[in-house]
Amino acid sequence: MAAMEEQPLSSSSTSMAIVLSLLKNNPADAVLLALVAVVALRHYLISSWRQQEQARRLPPGPRRLPVIGHLHLLRPPVHRTFQELASRMGPLMHIQLGSTHCVVASSPEVASELIRGHEGSISERPLTAVARQFAYDSAGFAFAPYNTHWRFMKRLCMSELLGPRTVEQLRPIRRAGTVSLLGDLLLAAASSETETETVVDLTRHLIRLSNTSIIRMVASTVPGSVTDEAQELVKAVAELVGAFNADDYIAVIRGWDLQGLRRRAADVHRRFDALLEDILKHKEEARAARRRLDDDDGHRVSKKQATAPHSKDLLDILMDKAEDPAAEVKLTRENIKAFIIDVVTAGSDTSAAMVEWMLAELLNHPETLRKVVEEIDAVVGGDRIASEADLPQLPYLMAAYKETLRLHPAAPIAHRQSTDEMVVRGFTVPPQTAVFINVWAIGRDPAYWEEPLAFRPERFMPGGAADSLEPRGQHFQYMPFGSGRRGCPGMGLALQSVPAVLAALVQCFHWATVDGDGDGDSKIDMSESDGLVCARKKPLLLRPTPRLSPFPAVV
Ligand code: HEM
Repeated sequence: MAAMEEQPLSSSSTSMAIVLSLLKNNPADAVLLALVAVVALRHYLISSWRQQEQARRLPPGPRRLPVIGHLHLLRPPVHRTFQELASRMGPLMHIQLGSTHCVVASSPEVASELIRGHEGSISERPLTAVARQFAYDSAGFAFAPYNTHWRFMKRLCMSELLGPRTVEQLRPIRRAGTVSLLGDLLLAAASSETETETVVDLTRHLIRLSNTSIIRMVASTVPGSVTDEAQELVKAVAELVGAFNADDYIAVIRGWDLQGLRRRAADVHRRFDALLEDILKHKEEARAARRRLDDDDGHRVSKKQATAPHSKDLLDILMDKAEDPAAEVKLTRENIKAFIIDVVTAGSDTSAAMVEWMLAELLNHPETLRKVVEEIDAVVGGDRIASEADLPQLPYLMAAYKETLRLHPAAPIAHRQSTDEMVVRGFTVPPQTAVFINVWAIGRDPAYWEEPLAFRPERFMPGGAADSLEPRGQHFQYMPFGSGRRGCPGMGLALQSVPAVLAALVQCFHWATVDGDGDGDSKIDMSESDGLVCARKKPLLLRPTPRLSPFPAVV
């Protein structure tokens, strides 16, 4: 036996030889050894099978029903339902919507593991039947697969279209919009005889401002009738893209369009396409005329002068790229139209909702509002209207904005789609799984945020617990603009436009709240709407009175 123990047990043939030799010389030992081997082998097989099973195991999820899976559990607003389910199932949860696998990430750790560890596998978005229509099939950006076209557009967004230089160059357009809104409010405040008539629907005004600003950044010279129609269409797109479409999830009814959403989307898309064609033709004519234009001395204006940077809007940048023979990707007309739909729909309701949430929070926290206004008065004074250029000198205002983004991120769920199988926290996420990152729940995670439901801008001020946190996607406990490759390209714009509008509103007006009885001192209702963008549920009805006399000048 001792001699045999010295044998190297390196191969199955050697082991077999030992067993045979034992069998011959000492059958009892041989039987014992064989028994031990069988037990060891069984143990090995069971544990490796368990490991494989675990690797193949889906994350935990609630009990599901046949055919519909967990669809019956999805009550709006969905980010709240997900948060409630995750409190029982854990921060990585599996649900099945009809026949579609979905996972929901609800903690900073899981979001970090997904975005840092599996970025390459979740760089796409689920393309629903309706979104496909607005993307001219696959010509768009926000729902485009992670391919050469998307990478080209992303670079163009970050360097030119939505990059810091363009955002700054287009400031006058946004400023004009804000000033026009202030003018409307001033008129509303001044024109009424009775107090009740001064009540304004600020929700409507803010959506209009946001839409008009973005459309004018796209094409600076479009007439008011175009921005009005665009506003109506953007609203329809947001509703259709945000609506739950059973067609996308339940395989047996795919293609039936039982809710009629695809039909409605086709109609809205046809109208949007006609409007975009008008905008494009108008722009093409203007560019052609500009190139033809002779200067005073009769010399032709050079191409360089004709498209001088100061006059460029986003459409100019896109058309320049489309005309550039050296461009790495040839932009088609459909690419341009789809991009405009994406930017206008992704950027306008979100920005309007953020101004509204911020004002509502401030009105519900008069002491915080007082500090914001004091800061503006100290930095800007009362002679001119606060602007985007003032923001670096308004840290308390910015802290209040960051706190609003934490509590009320306008896009509460970042939607992604897995392209490969991933193992996350020991669980398997199959390919083609919809990945929902609950940005809203993460910003309220009590493990990271003290008194998570309290509106406390001080946490973002120097010395506060979150003073080093920026909303730019590096900190997974605070990611209102998402993170990673598919993080929001409009973040730089939204970090300026939203607080600047808010600053002007509270600098120039006192705002009285209005309740059902009209006694003007009620708390603002903070219920949330359904849909892709999380806005306030009810319109924000307020009574403005000018705060400064004379009214500050536009400088
Ligand atoms: C405060 C306002 C805004 C918020 C809270 C917001 C939030 C977000 C979030 C959470 C995402 C998904 C990120 C991810 O998957 O990781 C996103 C994507 C996107 N956002 Fe924004 N956004 C805002 C404003 C804007 C603006 C102003 C624009 C453009 C003018 C814009 C354009 C887009 C686009 C095009 C995408 C899709 C990007 C892609 O798929 O690669 N957003 N946004």
